Amino acid sequence: MAGRIPEQFIDDLLARVDIVDVIEQRVPLKKAGRDWTARCPFHDERSPSFTVSPAKQFYHCFGCGAHGSAIKFLMDYDRLEFVDAVEDLAARVGIKVPYEGAGRRAPSEDTLDQYALLEAATKFYQRELGRSEKARAYFDSRGLDAATIERFALGYAPDAWDALKSALGSNPQRLALLEKSGMLTSGERGTKYDRFRDRVMFPIQDRRGRVIAFGGRVLVKTEDGPKYLNSPETPLFHKGRELFALWQVRQAHSKIPRLVVVEGYMDVIALFQHGVTEAVATLGTATTSDHAELLFRNCADVYFCFDGDRAGRQAAWRAVESVLPRMRDGRQAFFLFLPDGEDPDSIVRKEGRAGFEQRLKNAMPLSEVFFGELGKDVNLASLDGKARLAERARPLLTQIPDGAFRDLMLGELDRVANVRLRIDAPTSNAPRRAGRPQERTLVRAAVALLLQNPGFAAAIEPPHLFSTLRQPGIPLLMELVALCRERPEISTAGMLEHFAQREEVRALQKLAVMEFPGAEDAWRAEFLDALAQLDRQTHQQRLDELLAKKNESALDPEETDELRRLLASKNQPRD
Ligand code: UTP
Ligand code: MN
Repeated sequence: MAGRIPEQFIDDLLARVDIVDVIEQRVPLKKAGRDWTARCPFHDERSPSFTVSPAKQFYHCFGCGAHGSAIKFLMDYDRLEFVDAVEDLAARVGIKVPYEGAGRRAPSEDTLDQYALLEAATKFYQRELGRSEKARAYFDSRGLDAATIERFALGYAPDAWDALKSALGSNPQRLALLEKSGMLTSGERGTKYDRFRDRVMFPIQDRRGRVIAFGGRVLVKTEDGPKYLNSPETPLFHKGRELFALWQVRQAHSKIPRLVVVEGYMDVIALFQHGVTEAVATLGTATTSDHAELLFRNCADVYFCFDGDRAGRQAAWRAVESVLPRMRDGRQAFFLFLPDGEDPDSIVRKEGRAGFEQRLKNAMPLSEVFFGELGKDVNLASLDGKARLAERARPLLTQIPDGAFRDLMLGELDRVANVRLRIDAPTSNAPRRAGRPQERTLVRAAVALLLQNPGFAAAIEPPHLFSTLRQPGIPLLMELVALCRERPEISTAGMLEHFAQREEVRALQKLAVMEFPGAEDAWRAEFLDALAQLDRQTHQQRLDELLAKKNESALDPEETDELRRLLASKNQPRD
């Protein structure tokens, strides 16, 4: 049942996972004192200003201000929803996410049901494959073995208008869900029937292995009707953002050595069967820059495979355009052009894995494809030709993130066209500068110290005199004190997560990285001292209040008594 994830669970989860492990799997980290650093994955930079703190269990970028817990990192880096990020981390440490009540953040029942329904559809098509001689013969004719068919959960949609509809659409609710998931289409008079009929079926899985859509291929190619039919865009399926088989690649490798991007489902599947388990495909669309980012986030070396014909060259150029803005340092893109009339499926079946690997080894680097295509119809021996090449290259080269790869490309342009292109203006990926550091006030120091050392709250007992001090930040400090006392296990990251939806989070995030000299003992002393000073200010505030009132009107006996006590304690030596 869907519902809210209890905050206590989030605390426990953040206490169990190590943010350094989580980030290190995606971004190479270097140890620097107590912390780890890297070049920020969220903006382009040459020197590292991204730090990960194991003690605070959070990350922070001094360049662009990106920050947060392991959950936030997965949300931003892997582009997961909150609940998915929590599920991911929980799966890492082998615990189950509890949901309670009903709430905004939880996946809606509808969404959960859509996943369940598509899973049931997958099972249905798999069963039907078992019952269809001709569908099995088709896969057989394409050389697929049982293990491969199982691995990709391939199936068959029977030749009927309502096979799936009657199997899974047993009530109006389920029928509506089937339609929402793109599994039905409607006829002229509004009648609904199965979208996929008499096709072999390829389930499309998301990053977490859940089926979100299908591709279906006719068994016999005819003139009318598309060879492949894909699910339409649905709430779960956005084809410009998904890659077929990325899930299977992730299953096969704990660290993906490279990714090979091909055009068709059958290409991916044939490559897998021959042992090339790093193949993915776009879903009948050109490579988008969302794809490029997703590819590079999984692995720094990406090989794009295209047919050698005109269409293949065009598709390759579109891939070049979409990867250029994603070429941060350390990432490499290669292009493999196959002989006319061949595709990866046919090549790997003819030449085996070794033959395909050999072709990968000889793939062209991005720079070569780039200058090759741009210089194709210009005469580089003439000044005019060189100028034209430079003119074409400029808008593309400015999109490359600042770094060694851009330097290399500019150097290459200089070499082939004698043009020194200078790119001073920051690209669209320019970092947002984080605001200037905050002025250190007593309240800020107290908040920062507590935020960085939640355990300090145990050292102070309510009631807290300073709670009545009229100063900005006091209510926030009180809230943090209460939070830390109520949830003694909470970490810095846990507290930031607690405030994630509130505007205070921006200020807190800066305070979480405020530097204090010395070590824990010194910080504790500074924290207690800050609170003692706040207490004294509170005294003074009340004293001023009573004195003012005494001047204007008269104090009642209780107030007179209070004033006397305040004056007495003020004159006492401190401590
Ligand atoms: P291809 O026709 O090159 O695919 O289309 P393929 O894998 O080589 O096909 P077969 O099975 O060996 O004949 C490549 C991809 O383009 C999309 C599909 O995603 C397919 O895998 N496509 C192709 C469509 O969406 N619709 C079509 O009609 C054809
Ligand atoms: Mn093919």
